[in-house]
This record gives sequence, C-alpha cells and structure tokens, in this order.
Amino acid sequence: MVGQVISAFESNFKGKPGVFVAPGRINLIGEHTDYNMGLAMPAAIDKHFVFAIAPNNTDSFLIKAIDLDQSVSFSRNELKHGHSWENYLMGVIDGFLRRGKLLSGADSVFNSNIPAGAGLSSSAALCSGFGFALNEIFKCGLGKLELAVIAQEAEQNFTGTRCGIMDMYASLFSEENSVMLLDCRDNTHGFLPARFEGFEILLIDTKVKHSLASSGYNSRRAACEEGVLKLSQANPEIKSLRDVSPEMLESSKLSMSEEAFKRCTYVVREIDRTKKAAHFLQTNDMVSFGKLMYETHLGLSREYEVSCAESDWLVDRALKNNVTGARQMGGGFGGCTINLIPKGSKQALIDDVSEKYFNTFKNEPDFYSVKLASGVHEVVDH
Ligand code: GLA
Repeated sequence: MVGQVISAFESNFKGKPGVFVAPGRINLIGEHTDYNMGLAMPAAIDKHFVFAIAPNNTDSFLIKAIDLDQSVSFSRNELKHGHSWENYLMGVIDGFLRRGKLLSGADSVFNSNIPAGAGLSSSAALCSGFGFALNEIFKCGLGKLELAVIAQEAEQNFTGTRCGIMDMYASLFSEENSVMLLDCRDNTHGFLPARFEGFEILLIDTKVKHSLASSGYNSRRAACEEGVLKLSQANPEIKSLRDVSPEMLESSKLSMSEEAFKRCTYVVREIDRTKKAAHFLQTNDMVSFGKLMYETHLGLSREYEVSCAESDWLVDRALKNNVTGARQMGGGFGGCTINLIPKGSKQALIDDVSEKYFNTFKNEPDFYSVKLASGVHEVVDH
C-alpha cells in the first residue's frame, strides 16, 4: 500500500512527501473503562492507514482518500463539524491551530485497509496518523500524548462522540508483539507479554456497522457520570468509577437510577476483570483469561446493553465450538467479536459460523486473523 500511496501523491501533487503508517487496534479486555479512568488492554494490529503528505505553503489542505475515491480541499477557515472523514481531519487541524502550531496547509493522499465501523478504531487511526504526520512535517514538537489528546478532541468536538482516549493512545503508543496495559487514570501504560502460546486471535466482523455518536455511546457515558455524581455525594473522595468497589456501589444503589446502577455495575466489574486478566496474561493462563472475556461479553450484553443479536450469536457459537474466550469488541452495537482460539481450531469455527450466520442473519460475516503491530510511525525507506 505504501508504494501505491506514494505514486498517487506523485501523480496529484508536487514535492517529496513524508510517509506515515497508522494502525487500528484490538482490545483484549477493558471495554468502556477508558472514560471511567479504568484499565484497558489494547494492541495495534497489522491493518492500517498509509499517508503521504507534504506542506504546500498555502492556506489550504488538499486531501485524497484512495479507498473511498474521494478528494476534498478546504482552507483553515473552513473547518466544519460532521460525520464524514474530512471532519475528523478538520478536527485534528483545529487542534493544531488552537495550539498555535500550523504554519501552512498541506497536500495529502491516504489509503486504508481497516474496515470502517467494525470496532477496529479506523477513525482514531485516521486522526492519530494525520496528527502524527502534521507534527513531523511541520516540526511542531508535540509529544505522542498531546497528539492522542488532539485526536480525541477532534472526535469529541468535530463528530460529537464523547469517546475515551484508548483508541488513539493504542494507535500511537503500541509496540510490535506486545499488549498494552493502559491506565486511563493518568494516561500511562506498560506492556504485557503477548505470547499466546498455543492460541491465536480471530476477529469476526458481524458487518453490523455501528455509529458511535448515534448508538447510545454518549448515553452510556452519561449514565456513568450520573452514578459517579451520586457516589461522590456519599463519599467525596470518589472521582470516577475507578475509585469504586462493588460494596460501595451496592450501598449507593438507591441513590441513582436503575439504569445508572446497571451501567456502573458493569464498569466496576470490568475494571476488576482487566486487573485479573493482566495477571493471567503474565502467568500465561489463557484459559482463565478467556473466561474473563466471556464474562465481559455477558456484562456488555446484559448490564451495559451495548451488544446486538449478531454479536450475542457469534459469542454463543464460539462457546459451543470450545473457543477459549470471545466477546464483542469496541464501542458496541455491532462491529467485531474477538476470539481467543486454540491453534488449529480456527477453520472449524469459520466453517461452522459462515453457513449458520448467513442462514440466521442473511449477511456474510468477515474473518480477520490479525498480528500485533507497532504504533504510528514514519516509513523512512521508501
Ligand atoms: C470506542 C471508544 C473508546 C472506548 C471503546 C469502548 O472504541 O472510542 O474510547 O470507550 O469504544 O471500550
């Protein structure tokens, strides 16, 4: 894809571009914990955006998306909110402008093989990669955490999704063959060994496209905030659901709505599951790890209510096929399930699911075997 993006740049624009790769991510466990100051366990994957980009010494941005066969041009005074890919990029440009960092416009071509709306964070990769590239070509000197915040603000302010920081953080900071343990209380991370001895990861795409803004993501976040407000009235030390034990939550049950209680119950348990999962990964106990994934799915489906019939069905089939762990991944309401599969049994699951899924939902699922990859970087030799 790198060669193709460079030649498209050369046919459309002048100058020698910088070339950058920005990956999507999986998340092993720790879902809807990031905006609750919790823990998550993401890793970048070998599906990514490639950007070729160069300053153009004008006020305008000319950007061509190869995969979508679309081009846009706009000046820095024309940044608009919306739900199209250019609105994400406009949000990133706005973040740079607010920090007094952009010297001119830029010409860019990009392409991607991350399926959109599949829970693999294509929008975060788009924003993180574009921000990283601007930072390099204009020598702005911003650190990766600041770039993650710019990408998060772009999504929040320009597209209306009150997302957490996990996706952009994972896209920027991941390292090859490692799983990140991300602590969203202070935005720090460590790496866990990703040996998965005897296991592999298979993603199954429900093909149910989710749109986070319209899907109830924001209302889940609001319910958590309601819970924290009530909990903090009883105990002012509580700043987020990270500070809450199951007992504390139980004792404040009557102070909050039933909905807020259910959502908070899920999050408090999920933060606990993620801590346990980190231990199991460290001790290479993948069977116990897998059980936690199934528990997460139950929580996502019954307590957080962000699953859908297709995801529930896929997780149920995984259980029936003796898959070690499976759950819906990402923001929810569709997208992919992540499956931890004993090596050698992948094809049996694919065969079982393919036919029955089509008969049940009249839709073909997609299957992605992914490898863990490094975070956003410049391609120097091209
Ligand atoms: C989406 C959001 C993330 C995170 C996940 C759920 O991917 O962008 O910030 O909240 O959903 O874990």
